[in-house]
Amino acid sequence: MKNQLLVRFLTANVVLMLFCVVASSSAKVKEASTSTSTTSSIVVSAVGDPGMRRDGLRVAFEAWNFCNEVGKETSRMGSPRAADCFDLSTSSKPPKHVMHSQSQSQSQFILTNTTTLVTLDPHSVNHKVTEADNKLGVGKPFPGLSPKALNDPDLYAADKQVYLGSLCEVKETPNSKKPWQFWMIMLKNGNYDTKSALCPQNGKKVPPFAPGKFPCFGDGCMNQPLLYHQPTSLSSSTGNSNTNDTMMRGGFNGTYDLGSGSRGINNSSGISYFEVMWEKKVGVGSWVFSHKLKTSKLYPWLMLYLRADATKGFSGGYHYDTRGMLKTLPESPNFKVRLSLDVKQGGGAKSQFYLIDMGSCWKNNGAACDGDVVTDVTRYSEMIINPQTPAWCSSTSLGNCPPFHITPNNTKIYRNNTANFPYTAYHYYCAPGNAQYLEKPYSTCDPYSNPQAQELVQLLPHPIWAEYGYPTKQGDGWIGDARTWELDVGGLSSRLYFYQDPGTTPAKRIWTSLDVGTEIFVSDKDEVAEWTLSDFDVILTSPTT
Ligand SMILES: *[C@@H]1O[C@H](CO)[C@@H](O)[C@H](O)[C@H]1NC(C)=O
Ligand SMILES: *[C@@H]1O[C@H](CO)[C@@H](O)[C@H](O)[C@H]1NC(C)=O
Ligand SMILES: *[C@@H]1O[C@H](CO)[C@@H](O)[C@H](O)[C@H]1NC(C)=O
Ligand SMILES: *[C@@H]1O[C@H](CO)[C@@H](O)[C@H](O)[C@H]1NC(C)=O
Ligand SMILES: *[C@@H]1O[C@H](CO)[C@@H](O)[C@H](O)[C@H]1NC(C)=O
Ligand SMILES: *[C@@H]1O[C@H](CO)[C@@H](O)[C@H](O)[C@H]1NC(C)=O
Ligand SMILES: *[C@@H]1O[C@H](CO)[C@@H](O)[C@H](O)[C@H]1NC(C)=O
Repeated sequence: MKNQLLVRFLTANVVLMLFCVVASSSAKVKEASTSTSTTSSIVVSAVGDPGMRRDGLRVAFEAWNFCNEVGKETSRMGSPRAADCFDLSTSSKPPKHVMHSQSQSQSQFILTNTTTLVTLDPHSVNHKVTEADNKLGVGKPFPGLSPKALNDPDLYAADKQVYLGSLCEVKETPNSKKPWQFWMIMLKNGNYDTKSALCPQNGKKVPPFAPGKFPCFGDGCMNQPLLYHQPTSLSSSTGNSNTNDTMMRGGFNGTYDLGSGSRGINNSSGISYFEVMWEKKVGVGSWVFSHKLKTSKLYPWLMLYLRADATKGFSGGYHYDTRGMLKTLPESPNFKVRLSLDVKQGGGAKSQFYLIDMGSCWKNNGAACDGDVVTDVTRYSEMIINPQTPAWCSSTSLGNCPPFHITPNNTKIYRNNTANFPYTAYHYYCAPGNAQYLEKPYSTCDPYSNPQAQELVQLLPHPIWAEYGYPTKQGDGWIGDARTWELDVGGLSSRLYFYQDPGTTPAKRIWTSLDVGTEIFVSDKDEVAEWTLSDFDVILTSPTT
């Protein structure tokens, strides 16, 4: 635990000050999961921190290899799971104005030399996760670690996430049945060493095979990153104690290029880089998460997202018990997502920037996933807002389109209906590799990049999405078009095509991950993407609307 005090000087001439602990009241737990809108209808949020407004931040970090595992830890970095969770305390005492304090006194101040006036910021940050927790790695025990996970990097990371969740967990009432843990920053390296046999094929173990299909510079290309943490701390933006301007700031950053030392973004020529910094003014507005992602020759395929994941069960693409922010799982069509996005740099032509990506899991017979990777199927749908992303779906490439499109008035348009099918609304559709009754022609999704088979429905801005508040034309939401979006993600996802075996009961479309960020997909040059995300909320809407 770190107790941090911010001291401001009202006069110059202070040589030395303080020392220790202002008794601080424990953080005021401000839970605004329900609030009343102007129309006096009740707004119910599915996330623990509606709109990212809670001063006491909960945020975690996870890094994934090509098939969403760890594989091997990077030395001295521990298991690639970390968190920054704190409560903000506010001293019950008013700010102190102290004059002529005695040095060596028992007072809260040690002052030497001349008249000095000190004002103490009444806030302090009480961290709930130590750097030792964040550095935990295979071989090091922690509460709740299962014996078989102790020396298995994949299982260890999954248990570590649950452990960090226990440190960060927020219970809104003492007996809350819906505790929640953190926003999740997810970083993924798309290199795949096919000779390693580390990734299964549609969930089935397969032997090594010849390289060429995936980026990989050779041994070790699937490494986990160097990860650095700047724990959230307080600072005054103006140095003037007469304004309420206490800022909270923190971040995670690092690189995959292990030999690069820590040169930083200003001289990252030739090396990959990632950074997520968060900041917020105490008591005001939303946290703003600033992201940067840079690819390099050795790491040409990188992904960086901020996710609202389920607080338990599986989240999108993760086949272990998860921790997250979605204390209620949203179900299509009854939810919306609100967020503010400002894309500053796009990340080049291959950057598939997702506003928004939703992930879930159900089997081809419609049953819920149960962790059996041979029959579980990850389902994703993503709106890609980079205007350089072409539609691979077309009247001449029907195999890249879903079999049909459903309009807001529930009219089904088959993809062979060339006069009416909205081809340019779809970047790419691919079916699960383990589906047995696919309609020809079809394209199946990459069988290696998830722990199990996956299905992808990738959308592009198009007028047909207007009904849902989604981008309707190329450039919407892109660089220079920062906006606050209210996306009817529930409505849209209720009308997307997802594969199911004929005659089976339609799956409940319950979403375990909602995220925003980019996937720079095998870029041939070093690319940088940069964006900020704030105000994220998932709003549950009434089933009757
Ligand atoms: C107080 O400190 C300042 C420098 O910080 C020094 O110049 C000055 O001489 C000191 N005054 C006394 C009375 O010690
Ligand atoms: C600072 O915040 C307090 C409490 O919200 C308020 O009473 C005070 O007027 C504010 N001061 C300034 C300079 O804004
Ligand atoms: C991470 O950020 C810190 C603080 O801004 C900086 O000193 C460091 O160089 C960065 N690390 C890398 C790998 O760029
Ligand atoms: C990096 O460059 C930016 C903009 O030029 C500058 O503001 C910042 O201080 C630099 N950081 C370091 C660590 O050199
Ligand atoms: C950046 O780092 C590389 C590798 O260490 C070095 O050769 C180059 O001179 C550096 N560039 C600048 C502008 O510092
Ligand atoms: C549904 O909407 C389409 C245009 O999107 C329109 O052509 C069609 O007539 C509508 N069908 C019904 C039944 O309202
Ligand atoms: C178009 O596709 C549907 C569904 O697969 C099929 O029933 C229909 O016969 C096809 N129409 C044409 C003209 O091929």
